[in-house]
Amino acid sequence: MVSGTLNELTSDLAPLRAAIEEQLNRFTSAHEGCPERLTSAIRYSVLAPGKRLRPLLCLLACEAVSGDWKAALPAACAIEFIHVYSLIHDDLPAMDDDTLRRGRPCCHIQFDEATAILAGDSLQMLAVQVICQELAAQPARESLRILSEAAGRGKLVGGQQDDLAAEGRFGPVDMLGLEPLEFLKSIHRRKTSALIEASLQLGGVAGGATLDHLRSLSAYGAAIGLAFQIVDDCLDVESTAEQLGKKTRKDSELGKLTYPSLLGLESSRALAEQLVSEALAAVAVFKDRGERLTQLAQFVIERKV
Ligand code: IPE
Ligand code: IPE
Ligand code: MG
Ligand code: MG
Ligand code: MG
Repeated sequence: MVSGTLNELTSDLAPLRAAIEEQLNRFTSAHEGCPERLTSAIRYSVLAPGKRLRPLLCLLACEAVSGDWKAALPAACAIEFIHVYSLIHDDLPAMDDDTLRRGRPCCHIQFDEATAILAGDSLQMLAVQVICQELAAQPARESLRILSEAAGRGKLVGGQQDDLAAEGRFGPVDMLGLEPLEFLKSIHRRKTSALIEASLQLGGVAGGATLDHLRSLSAYGAAIGLAFQIVDDCLDVESTAEQLGKKTRKDSELGKLTYPSLLGLESSRALAEQLVSEALAAVAVFKDRGERLTQLAQFVIERKV
């Protein structure tokens, strides 16, 4: 099956997507004390046409452990808020200095840098707030533990710092004593795969997963998360801004350390495929209930967007 977009891949995800959009819209509505310009910037970025991969994974993880996927909607939105904040900040002139995101001008271009920084700040706390408001005490605590770790300095933020350091912009590159390929893997695991893994874990928590099932979901998430960033690196080389909705050839322009720059496109894609096979093996335990996770893993390597 050749599937460029998630919609083509599986139309039966439509009700899940619709529920995610509805809740994202609801949680980002005007709020007392939040200036209109800030609300507009938050909604501009969150409600832009993203793939919603992470929230979908969250709902499907819940489904895989026999939960009703609707129970995972607040966690799914929280994950998307963290993801969107990371994109807004990633695009800033001080970071990747991009102009196009999700087919539209980046938040700092449409508004201004200060508003974009503050929209990102708001989204981090909105993620925390939604979990505290919508979940019972025990799953809320567990979800916040998982999310704060994945989005924190040792994972997403630390990965972003080393992604920039690997360009050489802070002086000689400190590769943590690792070979270049291992250092790159560590960056991708932290900046991208950790949040994708957390999406699966949060869905599992919402569905009342056993510890064994949480481990299986984590293994799947870690593997497709790394594959996802490897494919992102490949698409930066192979695709176009029209197709992707963000500028391409940026990584080489900035001197980023990427899989294609180290291994070439063919070996990078082969590695992504191997990781997807590992992911599929991890969710075989869910049998039919894991069918849609299997489809999404396939999407990670076949995607054109
Ligand atoms: C982009 O993520 C940033 C990476 C981690 C590669 P997505 O490709 O999931 O972006 P959206 O949410 O669809 O815009
Ligand atoms: C982004 O990686 C990872 C995070 C935002 C945490 P990239 O910098 O490669 O993402 P794109 O290509 O700008 O979407
Ligand atoms: Mg970046
Ligand atoms: Mg970027
Ligand atoms: Mg990229």
